[in-house]
Order: sequence, then structure tokens, then C-alpha cells
Amino acid sequence: MSGLSERVQKVREGDFRVSIATKLILSFLLIIVVISLVFIMVGIRLTSDRIVEEAQEKVRNDLNTAREIYSTTLYGIEDVVRFTANRFFLKDALVMGYSASIAEELENVRIREGLDILSLTDAEGNVILRSNNLDFSEEYEIENELVQNVLMRKNHESATTIISDEELDRESSQLAEQASFTLIDTPLAIERDETEITDGMMLASAAPVFDYQNKLAGVLYGGILLNRNYEIVDKIKQTVYEDLKYEGKDIGTATIFQDDVRIATNVRNSDGSRAIGTRVSEEVYNQVVIEGEPWIGRAYVVNDWYITAYEPIENISRDIIGILYVGMLEEKYTDLQRETVLTFLGITLLGSIAAMALAYLLARRISVPIQELAAATKEIEQGNLDAEVNIKSRDELGELAETFNAMRGALKERDRQIREYAQRKVMESERLALIGQIAANVAHELNNPLQGIVTYSHLLLEKMSDESSATDSLNKIVIQANRCRDIIRGLLDFSRQIKPDKTLCNINSVIDQCVSLVEHQALFHNVQITKHFSEDLPMVYVDPSQMQQVFMNMIINAAEAIEDSGQLSLETKFDQTEDLVEIDITDTGEGIPEENLDKLFDPFFTTKEVGKGTGLGLAISYGIIKEHEGTISVESELKKGTTFHIKLPRNSIPEVSDGRREVQSTDH
Ligand SMILES: Nc1ncnc2c1ncn2[C@@H]1O[C@H](COP(=O)(O)OP(=O)(O)OP(=O)(O)O)[C@@H](O)[C@H]1O
Ligand SMILES: [Mg+2]
Repeated sequence: MSGLSERVQKVREGDFRVSIATKLILSFLLIIVVISLVFIMVGIRLTSDRIVEEAQEKVRNDLNTAREIYSTTLYGIEDVVRFTANRFFLKDALVMGYSASIAEELENVRIREGLDILSLTDAEGNVILRSNNLDFSEEYEIENELVQNVLMRKNHESATTIISDEELDRESSQLAEQASFTLIDTPLAIERDETEITDGMMLASAAPVFDYQNKLAGVLYGGILLNRNYEIVDKIKQTVYEDLKYEGKDIGTATIFQDDVRIATNVRNSDGSRAIGTRVSEEVYNQVVIEGEPWIGRAYVVNDWYITAYEPIENISRDIIGILYVGMLEEKYTDLQRETVLTFLGITLLGSIAAMALAYLLARRISVPIQELAAATKEIEQGNLDAEVNIKSRDELGELAETFNAMRGALKERDRQIREYAQRKVMESERLALIGQIAANVAHELNNPLQGIVTYSHLLLEKMSDESSATDSLNKIVIQANRCRDIIRGLLDFSRQIKPDKTLCNINSVIDQCVSLVEHQALFHNVQITKHFSEDLPMVYVDPSQMQQVFMNMIINAAEAIEDSGQLSLETKFDQTEDLVEIDITDTGEGIPEENLDKLFDPFFTTKEVGKGTGLGLAISYGIIKEHEGTISVESELKKGTTFHIKLPRNSIPEVSDGRREVQSTDH
């Protein structure tokens, strides 16, 4: 396994691995959770606020209606009192003194109109007739603010007013009783020393009675005691809330307070009785009675929370003497709120589940093909080039799969080609080795007899006189025998694989020696040799005579490639990064056709005519350079020239036994 894949494997084993599908699902989950939370929070907030606001708004309107009903009742009383004050029997009573029939008439009016009191004073404000209590005889100056106002302004007046218990008692003991309350301890109410109230609160109206000369003769006043009078509050409840109930309790409630005490109400105690005598909470009392501001908001009423509206009730002098209240049971709205919240949660939960399911499917659609691709890639890594992926989606994944399959096909084809090539190469080199072996054997066997032929033919030639007719033929034998010897030598060189005898030497001077050996030969007469030697070329550890053989081969080949005249350049350099000494031998000769480049280093490859070249020069050079762990390559352009590149590693000097380095330079 390669280093890279080993590393990948390690990373995979060491790290906590999270699949793409899990990551996708987790991302979806995060988004869903965030959106849901925002949705729930904002949604609940908005709807809850809306519900409460609407309820509040309704109660505010209900209070208006309640006030309307309250006022209408008051104006009803005013109408009765004003109308009656204009009737003649009253004028008569004041002018001529009252009689039993007048008292009866007044009592009829009171009963018919549903008033609790209807009484008459003289022009000084002394009560002279109480329809409710005909027996009352002593003259008495009334302390009624309405009456006093009418006496002063001679015009009718109507208002809510507080009537003292004595005054009530004078009207009727039953009224006094109706007005009095024992106070009931109420949580959150203000502290009070008294344990009961005895005054009464009344909707009252007073109107002047004029005599026939239009002089004020007296005042008629009448009213309805509000204490324990449930008509108004029940009318409010019915008008506004239509007696709706929620879980057995009245949804809507209305109350009239005298100061802070419930004197008429349809708020119930837990036993179902009306909660009269209980008191308003301190908080509401302070705002409404002390500060004179209406109260709109939730409030604890008797034993439940209500959405409420309170406003002050004023007397004729605009002093606050009580409170008018309407309220709706909060429970209904909190239940509604809870239902809304639950609905919201339910919808969000269902939505989330649906979204998760969708996310899961989507994640699988993406991750399954990726897993398939990953598995196929692994197969290929392990050498199975038949691993094909089958992804049909029409998107990037589909494209990826297609490309992957194409890549797999290409890899497989290349694999096949490489295998074929390697096989061919193996066969070739086996064949070459065999040829080499045969050639070496043949050369070896032929060497000795050939040596004899060469020697004896030379001897013969020397002994023979120049005139002899055989001299010419013998000369030819000598030339051909010499040639045979050269071929055999070359073959022996090539096949013998002589181990190089390495010493430290300077390549520049090796090349120099080669040049000095050849430059005066006829072959080089038209060749201009230039040298470009690197000055700081390091010494290399090589066999100098083998190197010389290589350079000589190359130099002679170059000269042979130059037909008329040309240049031969010899260049050396040092590649520091690779630690290589490089030698370039460049000529401006005929160049090498492309089809020959491959065969150049094969033994016996030559383009020279038969008998001229052996074709062993480059093959031997190749063997030597290879033995030195170097490389040799060629670049050529027809009609332009050729360059041979040789690269030699600057082999380190092996240590000799005594620890010193074996240094033996050929550079003198
Ligand atoms: N510098 C060169 N320019 C053009 N062709 C070359 C050059 N060097 C070698 N060749 C080609 O490569 C062939 C093989 O060269 P090699 O030195 O192995 O054998 P040879 O030169 O033909 O024979 P020999 O070296 O025995 O005289 C040559 O015949 C020639 O065609
Ligand atoms: Mg040659």
C-alpha cells in the first residue's frame, strides 16, 4: 500500500468518523430546531398577546356599556323626579299643606317607578313628606347635597350620593338594614379598622317644585339604594356577557363598590353566594379611588383572576365615592392561550417530523451514491479495476459516476498496455541476453584462431615481395582479418561486462584527453571542437578508462555524422540539487531519424555501410554508464544535429578498512 493511502487509513482509524448522511441530517435538524424555536416563540408571543389584548379591549368596551347602563338608570330616576315635581298635587301640597291623599299619590309613584325613596322638602330644605315613611312627622332639615344644590340653583340635579345611616333610617329601617354590611376579610385589600359599613350609596335625583307664581316652594328628591340592589349589575352582566358560563362559572361579572366594599355584585364566593361585603384589592383601590385613574388589566377578584376594568364613581362634587367594575374570567383566556400554545407546539412538532423525514430521504439520496463511489474507489485502490458504479441520477453525482466509470475504463486500458509492454520488454531482454551469450561464446571461440590468421597473414605479407601477384590478395586478407579482429574485440568488450575500476577523477580532464587523442586525425579536420567546462565540477568516483571509452565513442560518432564541416561542443555542468555531473556532447551533424532513436543503443545497430561500423559503440557506452548508475539519453533533429546527455551520480567514496578514504586522482 502506498504511503498516502496508509496515511489516509490512519486518519480514518484515529478520528471519530461522521458520515455525510449524519452530517446532512444533523444540519437539517439544527435548521429545523432553530426555525421551530423562533416560530414557537414568535407565534406564541404574538397570538398570546393578541388574545390578551382582545380580551382587554373587550373589557374596556364592556366598562363603557356598564357606565351607560348605570347612567341610564340614573337618568330614569331623574325623569321620574322632574316629571313628578311638576305635577300639581305637589305644588298644592306645598302651598296648602299636604294631606293623606297626596302622600298616597306620591307613594304610588315611588312604587310604580321602583324607587326606594321619594321625599319632599319645603323651600328651606326641611323634609315635609317621605313617601316611604308616612309616619315620619318631625320637621327635619335634610343634609342632602343634591337637595341643597337644587335649593341654591333652582334646577334639577342627579348623581350618585352617599346617604348616612340616620337618613336611611328616617326613610325606612328596612333601607338602613339593606345598606349595612359586615365587612368580609379579603386578601390583598387595604387594612380597615371598621368591621362594617352602615351608610348607603344611592342613585339619586332632586328637582325643584315651584308654586303657581313660579316661586321655589320645595324640592322633590328620589333615588334607588344601590346596596344589595343587583338589578344594575345583573343587567350589565346580561347585556354584555349574555350570562355565558365557563366551567360552571360566570364568564362576565359586574360590581358596584361603595368606597372599596362590594355592595352590589354578581361575583360569587366559592359557596356560590354573591360576594358582597368583600373589598377591592389595595392596588386597584390606590389607582382608582386615590388617584382617580381607571384600571385596566388583570386583577385578583375575590377568588379568581379576572381581566378587569375599573373606573371611579363620583358624587355631585366630583369626589370619588365608589367604583364601577366589569371583568371577565381570565381562566377562559389562559385556557385559550394554553390551547394555542399546544396547537403551535403540535404543528411545529408535526412539521419538524415531516421535515426530518424529508431530510433523511434527501440525505440518503446524496449519501448512498457517495458511499457507492467511495466503495468503488477503494476497490480500485486495491487493484480491482472492474468496480463499476451504477448511479443514474441526473445531477453532479450522476456526472461524477459517469466520469468515474470512464476513468476506471481508461485505467484498465492503461494497465493492460503496461502489462503488454512489460511482457514484451522481458521477452526482448531475455532474447538480447541470449544473443549476447551466444555472441560472447562465438567471439571467444573465434578469437584465438582469428589471432592466428591475423599474425600469420601479417608475417606472410612481410615475407612476400611487392611484385608477387598474390600480394594484392594477401593485403585484402590482412585488412579483412583486422576487421574481424576489431569486431570480435568489440563483441568481447560488450559481453564481458568488465567491472569498473573506480577512482576519484575529474571528468573535464578525461574529456580533454579524449580530445587531444582525436583532434589531429583526418576525421576531425573539418570539425571545430568547443569546450564549455564547468569550473567547479566536483570529482566523480568512476573508472576513467571506461569513461574515456564512452566519450571517444560519442566524439567519433559525432565527427562521423558531420559530412562536410561542422561543430562539436563538449559541455560539463553540475546539478547541485540532484548531485549529478552532466555531460552534453552536441554536434551539428546529419541528425538521427525518429524511427532509429529507439534502437540506437541496441548492439549491432548501425547505419554505416557493411564492413564500416560494428554498431557496438553505443551499446558498450550504455553498458558502462549503467554500470556507473548513470543515465544516457539522446535528442536529435534531422539535418540540424544531435545531443547526447550523460548524467553521472557523484558517487560517494566507499570507506576503506582503516577508515580513510581511498583517494586516487587521475587528474595530473
Ligand atoms: N552523433 C551522431 N549523429 C548521428 N547519428 C549517430 C550519432 N551517433 C550515433 N549515430 C547513429 O547510431 C548508430 C550506432 O552508433 P554506434 O556507435 O553504436 O555504431 P557505429 O558508429 O555505427 O559503429 P562503430 O561505432 O562500431 O564504428 C550509428 O551508425 C549512427 O547511425
Ligand atoms: Mg560508433
